[in-house]
Amino acid sequence: MRLLTSVVAALVGQALSQDAPSFPFPTSCSGVAAPRYAYTVDSGWQVTKIASGLRQPRTIIFDPLGHMLVLQASSGISVHTFGPDGCINSTKTLYQNSGLNHGLSLTADGKTLYASSQTTAWSWTYDPAALTLTNQKTVVSGIGQGIHSTRTILVSPKNPNLIIISVGSNSNWDNPTIDPKVGRAIVKVFDVSKAPANGYSFNSQGTVLGYGLRNEVALAFDPNGHVWGAENSGDDFRRTVNGQSTDIHIDNPAEELNYLGDPAAPLANNWFGYPTCFTVWEPSNFRDNTALKTGSQFVVSPNSTFNDASCEGKSVPPRLSFPAHMAPITNGFDSKGENLYITFHGSWDRQPAQGYFVAEVPFQKNADGLYEPVAPPDSKTGYKNIIGAQNPGGCNSPSLTMSSCWRLAGLSWDPTGERLFISSDNQAQGEIFVLKKKA
Ligand SMILES: *[C@@H]1O[C@H](CO)[C@@H](O)[C@H](O)[C@H]1NC(C)=O
Ligand SMILES: *[C@@H]1O[C@H](CO)[C@@H](O)[C@H](O)[C@H]1NC(C)=O
Repeated sequence: MRLLTSVVAALVGQALSQDAPSFPFPTSCSGVAAPRYAYTVDSGWQVTKIASGLRQPRTIIFDPLGHMLVLQASSGISVHTFGPDGCINSTKTLYQNSGLNHGLSLTADGKTLYASSQTTAWSWTYDPAALTLTNQKTVVSGIGQGIHSTRTILVSPKNPNLIIISVGSNSNWDNPTIDPKVGRAIVKVFDVSKAPANGYSFNSQGTVLGYGLRNEVALAFDPNGHVWGAENSGDDFRRTVNGQSTDIHIDNPAEELNYLGDPAAPLANNWFGYPTCFTVWEPSNFRDNTALKTGSQFVVSPNSTFNDASCEGKSVPPRLSFPAHMAPITNGFDSKGENLYITFHGSWDRQPAQGYFVAEVPFQKNADGLYEPVAPPDSKTGYKNIIGAQNPGGCNSPSLTMSSCWRLAGLSWDPTGERLFISSDNQAQGEIFVLKKKA
């Protein structure tokens, strides 16, 4: 059985790589403005800017023919073909809608495209050869609104009928989300093959994949089709113990990498802690509880009925943690599941600023067939910066779309698994870069 599965997988892989052309790595692309902000790249990688002047490119995906689709926030969806030099050869607007702000996903066969606005998710029939969209349908509607406005949408590569949608909290402390029925701080699964004619209603339908997720913007499927989410955790935190309050917000709470599980078999009551249990990045800020380590769960105000230890067995802790406020936006695995890549948009809630880079998180496949990070959950070094702002501490980001540095957002491998594409959605200039590991 196992042998059969791998033969089929190899055949599928072959068919895909035959369809998707391989392009050379360009060392420069004519007509593309010079990089807008200074960056440094790891010595094991090469990088070239391939697009400039886009409108807040948030999400990058590829169709099976190797064309690049880009969701440009407040604008719509564009598709770009590549020429024999590996640079962009043609650009076409697929769909214009100023309400689109982040979510974009394509079925593995390249035939059904999904995109989202703050309140609604749609599907279309996509033709990768003709580069056209037809047959628009509403698949999910009635999503609530709030400060976190993006709705990441991903279609499962293993089960193309299943889509997952992430909705963040509507404020820093969204207390009603302790009940998943409020439909915020949550990731839900919808079976589009059974969708009502006018689409699902987000809050009352679908299945909960995980909740207590403050703003799980970055989501990806590992090679088993299981979901890994990276979470934007809370701002301006203070720790209050016996009436004494200490500012802990510079280095806590941690941003989180969470294992959400298999969308084909969601776990019951998969609660990740928000708005009660959070994750420690820097344990030295917690002088009253020396048992806490990086990756431990804590509450901001322990009391006689609920303290840090009360989170154990109730809140699912992250599998890996990252420094506070770095703002993960997109997750993407390489084809073998050896590394997860994460774009970090960069902080506004601490000085000096941090983030503004792409992390490479080494993963391994365990004897039980499941994937997980190589580093243990209490590690502070479970990832590597492969490309980032040259002086992140000096980055000043007065709003989500304005910054004195690039703001890394979209990330995708091309279908051959050779080139990694990343975008900056800084409104001063939307940029796309291509990276490749040096041989
Ligand atoms: C480049 O784009 C033109 C249309 O703008 C198209 O005719 C041509 O086939 C493209 N070449 C490649 C290699 O994609
Ligand atoms: C104790 O803390 C828990 C968790 O933060 C909270 O839900 C509860 O209301 C608190 N109880 C009191 C008496 O403050």
